Amino acid sequence: MRVILGDAMHLQSLLKREGIAPVKAVVSSLPLLSMKKAVQYRIGAQAFGALEPGAPFIQFTYGLFSPLPRRRLGVQGGVQDRVLQNLPPASVWIYRKPGQPGGQPGGTPRHQPSHHELRRAG
Ligand SMILES: C[S@@+](CC[C@H](N)C(=O)[O-])C[C@H]1O[C@@H](n2cnc3c(N)ncnc32)[C@H](O)[C@@H]1O
Repeated sequence: MRVILGDAMHLQSLLKREGIAPVKAVVSSLPLLSMKKAVQYRIGAQAFGALEPGAPFIQFTYGLFSPLPRRRLGVQGGVQDRVLQNLPPASVWIYRKPGQPGGQPGGTPRHQPSHHELRRAG
């Protein structure tokens, strides 16, 4: 495994510099919900710019709302799993660009985000 120290807001140039392509998945425990919306968007845009078509962006979060601005990024996603044994309980969100190979966005979410969640998350 190769560890790269860098800012996720510059993911594409970091990957290019290391010659890493294609990207088949992003697994993130970045504290996205604590970040400004513009930073969430920038990180999401960098990730989806690097991911190959249909590849998942997987995010762990402790919050109830989407850690990525789905509408602005043009992605779909939902809660794939909840880890209630974690303190605090955690959720796993999976996002994908729609219209790409890989099937249903986020695989087969057990939990479809509520209307309230969708409105809050954009
Ligand atoms: C909740 S910790 C997760 C640590 C580790 N990935 C794990 O799962 O145990 C969040 C990490 O995100 C890092 N982080 C925050 N903003 C970042 C950014 N823009 N680019 C890269 N890492 C960032 C922090 O330094 C911190 O180490």
